Amino acid sequence: MQSNLTANDSERSYSVSGLSSEAGLTAQRSERHALYLAPMEDVTDPAFRMLCKRYGADRVYTEFVNADALVRDVASTTRKLTIHQAERPVAIQIYGRTPESMAEAARIVEQAQPDFIDINFGCPVKKVAGKGAGAGLLRDVPRMLEIARAVVNAVHTPVTAKTRLGWDENDLHPRVNPLNLPKSYSVSGLTASAVFQQSGLTASAVFQQSGLTGEADHKSVFITDLSLALQDCGIQELAIHGRTRSQMYRGEADWTLIGEVKNNPRMHIPVIGNGDVCTPERAKECFDLYGVDAVMVGRATFGNPWLFAEIKEYLDGPSLLQSEGRSYSEGRSYSEAVLQRSGLSAAPPRSMEEKVNVLKEHVLSSIQWCGGDERKGIVHSRRHFAASPVFKGLPDFRQTRIALLRAETVEEVFAIMDSIIAQWGNNETQCPNGK
Ligand SMILES: Cc1cc2nc3c(=O)[nH]c(=O)nc-3n(C[C@H](O)[C@H](O)[C@H](O)COP(=O)(O)O)c2cc1C
Repeated sequence: MQSNLTANDSERSYSVSGLSSEAGLTAQRSERHALYLAPMEDVTDPAFRMLCKRYGADRVYTEFVNADALVRDVASTTRKLTIHQAERPVAIQIYGRTPESMAEAARIVEQAQPDFIDINFGCPVKKVAGKGAGAGLLRDVPRMLEIARAVVNAVHTPVTAKTRLGWDENDLHPRVNPLNLPKSYSVSGLTASAVFQQSGLTASAVFQQSGLTGEADHKSVFITDLSLALQDCGIQELAIHGRTRSQMYRGEADWTLIGEVKNNPRMHIPVIGNGDVCTPERAKECFDLYGVDAVMVGRATFGNPWLFAEIKEYLDGPSLLQSEGRSYSEGRSYSEAVLQRSGLSAAPPRSMEEKVNVLKEHVLSSIQWCGGDERKGIVHSRRHFAASPVFKGLPDFRQTRIALLRAETVEEVFAIMDSIIAQWGNNETQCPNGK
């Protein structure tokens, strides 16, 4: 399976699959600013992924999929492997606690032909981390590496991983051997030295080459060593959420350590930064200050899938329009070529009405995803209209919002949305987000 992202590319340019090269468009588009939709349980289903893709997400992820349930062929789980051609490149994310089940799950996932198989090493919730999967593996790095290696060896599809800065605050400070790797830790039943010998290197040479501190006495930070160790296992890209497991979603994401990982000369694989990116300005800062290869956006996309287009316009709009001989001020109407070069398949919505129409479309596609069950589809997409910036800041909106969240039929939801447009849609000055 061909990756659309070329690791080890010093230009950090990306080959783009599925884009035509006519009209002088090269495959080297503005992917210095690659934007990914974060994997999110109950959120990143095909309906939402397609919308984000349409508005410029350069990669989308499924929600995490339980390895054991895949192996047991649980129907509600295998359904999560549904992907569509139009959403590529797409990663299917899996989680689990044993190398065997994860390798088996990866083989099953591969049959769905995703562009990437992503391993979740970051989920903090008790029912996952408490059972030794997701972020739970941050406390058992030898097992995490065993899982990474087992999955990489099980499939031909590029394997990526997503993790956090560490388990808790202690992992944020330099210390000797922060990964607690025993010299003889075993990988797939072989001792470390046997594995290292197989690759023609001694354990200490591997440690030295990769900068791991397993046999040295200098101090380093957990995530720095972990990233190198995962790279050694054959992980092709690493996404880092700038929080520890203990933080869950509290506090602010710390991007400084993400930047350190990215700027470590021994790191050769792309590093994807994640955490609290909500605006085009913050996305630009993350690229500029930390040099990450891609920014992954999660919660800020709720009811806001066009955020990707807004970030891209902020980052690349002027240069893209200039390349057409137009100035940015004439912009805000994308030509087909600019749309294509930005990775958008439709112009982003501008007015409140256009944005609400996207939300309506999402409601309908959610219902479709829920097998035509109207109530279920509405409940499933509720968090999007509850959080959408389209409605934020509307005066006296509380009652309308409650009505919106109580509505159980498409007719009700759309009627409320229409009344909002009727009241605020043309009143750009009073509606802060109705731009
Ligand atoms: C509702 C929800 C579900 C999530 N599910 C997953 C998941 O399935 N896999 C995963 O790796 N991370 C998951 N995450 C974490 C996000 O991918 C992301 O790392 C986190 O939200 C921080 O990014 P943000 O600040 O841009 O939202 C989830 C987050 C939320 C809010």
